[in-house]
Amino acid sequence: MSLQNIVSMLGIEDPVELDKLFEEAYETKLKYVGNKVYLRGLIEFSNICDKNCYYCGIRRDSSSVNRYEMSKQEAVEEGLWAFKNRYGSVVIQAGERTDRTFISTITEIIKELREKSDGWLGITLSLGEQERETYEEWFATGAHRYLLRVETTNKELYKKCHPQSQSFEKRVEALNILKETGYQVGTGVMIGLPGQTLEDLANDILFFKEFDIDMIGMGPYIVHSDTPFSKIRNLNKPEDNLVLGLKMIAATRLTLKDVNIASTTALQTLAPDGREMGLKAGANVIMPNVTETKYREFYSLYNDKPNTDENAETARVSLEKSIETIGETIGYEEWGDSPHFFKRTNA
Ligand code: 5AD
Ligand code: SF4
Repeated sequence: MSLQNIVSMLGIEDPVELDKLFEEAYETKLKYVGNKVYLRGLIEFSNICDKNCYYCGIRRDSSSVNRYEMSKQEAVEEGLWAFKNRYGSVVIQAGERTDRTFISTITEIIKELREKSDGWLGITLSLGEQERETYEEWFATGAHRYLLRVETTNKELYKKCHPQSQSFEKRVEALNILKETGYQVGTGVMIGLPGQTLEDLANDILFFKEFDIDMIGMGPYIVHSDTPFSKIRNLNKPEDNLVLGLKMIAATRLTLKDVNIASTTALQTLAPDGREMGLKAGANVIMPNVTETKYREFYSLYNDKPNTDENAETARVSLEKSIETIGETIGYEEWGDSPHFFKRTNA
């Protein structure tokens, strides 16, 4: 798959051609990873963040956010809820912090979740850039997957999205360390960032391929009104970003084939059935939020994040129905690891 091929896919506008693209990606998904959807219960542990990404609603300098960190007990209970409901794994996500207290708290949560699930619950972390020792500590405790989005592989665009202290090189270095530590590594980008071109997005997909990535989580960029990026005008229309997000899923499936691809909440923000559309375009993972409802509105990366008032149980029932409606089944009680990881490591 060449850069030009991918750019052409991302540029498709004819509805018949577009349907063909999604169908082809769906066939590729069935062939390489099957028609099961794997669920990862998402625990939004804390919205306290030391970083200052210009697009993000919980960035350090935002004063309009009520900051929270849930108790260790609450995080463990949410994880065990996912386990009891036969989800293969959980994702612990939070704003980025590197202090010892934070690191130890996460270690204790991983330990307790592993113990209380008799080693059954898969644990994925999404906690940003950390020192090698921290990644090693969490891995040794029982986390086995890590998500760290590269956000964009266009270095100039990366600079426009982040303060100088946050470098693209450091981010890629962190991804390398994660791989060396032994994690299944996930990355992804935001789609429709101001100034981002189709070539940029095609290069992102080639980066996933070259980096031999195991899992992908990407979604449309959505404005948060209290961020420096909210001042930028002439953005893509949200409905165009939704379609571009779906095209990215399809093009990534066709290029990488055997990886896990998440259908993300940002898609659902732009259309109520956005995540189901993502599954039809080639994604095979959904991350239902299992965070206690009282915290949800504060984990506001962007405007209009859905399901802030929905509890995990209601969400599970309606998700099950909608997944059935599109002819897929849920991979309950399975880790649903990316086949690519086993190929990469000859496991
Ligand atoms: N729109 C879409 N995605 C966002 N993220 C942060 N802010 C936004 C936004 N405004 C994504 C980033 C980050 C992930 C946790 O959320 O890609 O890695
Ligand atoms: Fe912090 Fe992540 Fe938001 Fe950046 S995107 S400000 S690291 S929570």
